[in-house]
Formats: sequence, structure tokens, C-alpha cells
Amino acid sequence: MSVELLLAQDAAEVAEIAAAALAEVVQAKPDAVVGFATGGTPLATYRRLTELSMAGELDASNVRPTALDEYLGVPGDDPRSFRAYLRRHVLDPLRVHEDRGVLLDGAAADPIAECERFERGLTALGGVDVQLVGIGRNGHLAFNEPWAAAAGRTHVRALAKTTRDDNAGDFPGDPVPALALTQGLGTILEARTILLVATGDGKAGAVAAALDGPIDLACPASQLQRHPRVRVVLDPEAASGLSRRGRGAGIPSAW
Ligand code: F6R
Repeated sequence: MSVELLLAQDAAEVAEIAAAALAEVVQAKPDAVVGFATGGTPLATYRRLTELSMAGELDASNVRPTALDEYLGVPGDDPRSFRAYLRRHVLDPLRVHEDRGVLLDGAAADPIAECERFERGLTALGGVDVQLVGIGRNGHLAFNEPWAAAAGRTHVRALAKTTRDDNAGDFPGDPVPALALTQGLGTILEARTILLVATGDGKAGAVAAALDGPIDLACPASQLQRHPRVRVVLDPEAASGLSRRGRGAGIPSAW
């Protein structure tokens, strides 16, 4: 298995380690192409990156940003869009210019053409240097729900019920969109390095299936086992379903 596992003491330390790993990439390559995940888990990592930036220890202003996914039908200026999330938590605090990278437009008139434009954009950027990802309770990666194609490219995807339930808080009073644009598993696996963060016991089953189980389309995140450079940072609760074998990866050297 090509996965490096880091067991943090708690969720705060997960953020500390993940932010340090991202900062390391940016310090080595200031115009790195960085893929930012949305969701609750990476928020603490983004807060830590912002602290580093404000302390003058990180200059991310030349980073070329990209995204994993976007709700279909939700425009970027809607605060519930992932673009708005990224502006709020990443791009504005870190002074990253979104035009230097490529994001997905959930309101594009032709969603399939938008997915193709995004793929071309990633190619034009020269690929993703580091992709931060979370994991769904059902093992989804970005919005690749169970049984998504292992080599899939950016596409339109129907969201699983668990995903819509988990994201209901972002759409108070409204239904969560049924469809999203998402990088495919094939697209995600082309990132040169992948950093997975997971916290809380709600993720324990998905983490165990992803890292301990077979590479299986039932758990999209298990495809990470095929990637040569994945670092996984977990708190004790998220790691609680791992067997000794799964935990055996140990503490890696610097990335
Ligand atoms: C977000 C994304 C999703 C989340 C996953 C976990 O861009 O693609 O796959 O990473 O749903 O979300 P949280 O962190 O809210 O538990």
C-alpha cells in the first residue's frame, strides 16, 4: 500500500499536520496547483493556513487553486456554492486569485461542456500538485458516490441520500441539489500528491473500508490505494475502525 498514515492526537492536530503539509508544498513551489476540498473537515486546516499566512510564515498568493466539485444549478455568487465556500475560507484569507487556477461553474448552461472545460483547465495548469480531500460516510471521494467509475473524468453525478442528508445544513429550508459536478476518480488520482483528512467516529467505517479493505468500487476512496503518494491524517475516532495492518503504515518522513 502506498498510503502514509499519520495518527494525530485530536482533530486540532489533524489540522496542524494537514496545514503544515500543504504549506510545505507551497513553500517549495509558490505557484503550486492546489486542489481544495470543501466540507466541514478541512475548515480547521484552512484556519491554520490563514494563521500561518497572517504570521508571515506562508505566502500563498501565487498558488493556482482548483476545486473537487460544485453543486449543479448553484452559481458561484450564491453563498451555498462551493466556490463561495472556497472564497470565504481559502481564497480571500490566503489572498489566492481564483483566476490563476480553475474552478467549476455550477450554473454553466451546458454542464457537460463545463466538465470538459474544467478538465482542459487542469491540463493547461500542468496537473494538480497536491489535492486535499475529505471522505464521505459512504466512502465517497469528492462526489464520486459508490460505484462511480474508477477511471472517471469530471462529470455530472447524482448525490447519494447520505450525502444530501449530511449537506442539508448548507441549504436551510431548501432541498440539497440532487446533482453535482465532480472530478472523477481518474481525475483525482492524477494529482501528484493527495492529502486525505478525516475526523470523528462517523468516518471510522469509511476510513477502514478505504484503507484496510480491498480496492472496491463500493468504497470509492479505496481507489486511493492505487495512488503512489497519498498521505492520510486521522484523529483517533476516525482511525478507530482500522486494523493493526491498516495502522502499520507508520509515521512517514517529510513529504
Ligand atoms: C467536498 C467533497 C466531499 C467531502 C465529504 C466529507 O469538496 O468533495 O467529498 O470531502 O463529503 O465532508 P465533511 O468534511 O463535511 O465531512
